[in-house]
Amino acid sequence: MRLEEIKRTTMIGAGTMGSGMGLCFAQAGYEVTLYDVKPEQLEGALNRVKNSQAVLIEEGVVSERAAREARERIRLTTSLKEALDGVQFVLEAAPETLEIKHKLFRELESLCSEETILATNTSGLSISAIASVCRRPERVGGMHWVNPPELVPLVEVIKGEKTSEETLALIYAVAGKLGKVPVLIRKDVPGFGLNRLQFAVLREALHLVETGVLTPEDVDRTMKCGLGFRYSWLGPLETADLGGLDVFHSVASYLFKDLSDVKTPPESFSRLVAEGRLGIKSGRGFYEYEAGSREEILRRRDAYFVRQWQLIQAVLGDKKLS
Ligand SMILES: NC(=O)c1ccc[n+]([C@@H]2O[C@H](COP(=O)([O-])OP(=O)(O)OC[C@H]3O[C@@H](n4cnc5c(N)ncnc54)[C@H](O)[C@@H]3O)[C@@H](O)[C@H]2O)c1
Repeated sequence: MRLEEIKRTTMIGAGTMGSGMGLCFAQAGYEVTLYDVKPEQLEGALNRVKNSQAVLIEEGVVSERAAREARERIRLTTSLKEALDGVQFVLEAAPETLEIKHKLFRELESLCSEETILATNTSGLSISAIASVCRRPERVGGMHWVNPPELVPLVEVIKGEKTSEETLALIYAVAGKLGKVPVLIRKDVPGFGLNRLQFAVLREALHLVETGVLTPEDVDRTMKCGLGFRYSWLGPLETADLGGLDVFHSVASYLFKDLSDVKTPPESFSRLVAEGRLGIKSGRGFYEYEAGSREEILRRRDAYFVRQWQLIQAVLGDKKLS
């Protein structure tokens, strides 16, 4: 299949990720079907789409008219058969268990045409394991987005053991057409690229708090005002190049051995989860959240991300973020 032949797309699962990814496809001109097993999730998805669009309109990224036209390209259904009728590109964003994904991929294969690309947004399950139930695993590949998917540019494109080069190239090209920045993950390793980096940082952050070196507030301040501030522009390897590899090598030779290398989540972290301190959704995590503050916090986050992206684009001119 050629990129231009992809017109119709379906998101399987209309939760946090399915609705945001669907919005990106609709904004890029694709016909989008959001499928979910729960009708109330579809209603919620439409509200999330409208809320995201409100931020984009407020920040001048899209016009009211373009937003309405994008919304009109989105259909909602609880019928899998209807969702897959005439579809060329499927992106699965159902719950993260192999059992659910296996059941779905069997159904997807039986209901889609032979050519339909079957992509999964799994956070870290093996693409090869997901595709193992398919008769044609070569058309199954990973397409891992970052939350909030309508605002974060990165999309990881992952090759499963049997993913064909053609499938991989198509998923990569679709991501580019959506205005995203695709990165190819050539080996199906747990966590792919982004989550390996993210969890390496989280492990050290937890270690610094547990050993009393930094408070949670100071971990986050260090990241936002120091490392993270720089990372939106310079990756860790570019940073090392600019700082001097000899300098970074000397620091690595005494510091690596002191960094946390625990193999399981530390006790203090497990305790928070056991106590039901799950973060903003339960009102308490590392921090306390007032009832009803969630929407406002997410709206401010989204407005910040939109402006950060606009700033990066303004600095880059007609070049692309790489
Ligand atoms: N939330 C994130 O930050 C994030 C980031 C990247 C990837 N992911 C991955 O994306 C996928 C979806 O995550 P999410 O955060 O959107 O979850 P979510 O819980 O918000 O949404 C999942 C949706 O799938 C629906 N669902 C349940 N069973 C289904 C079935 N059999 N068929 C179709 N839909 C079904 C649920 O009703 C729900 O609406 C997961 O694999 C997750 O690991 C999540």
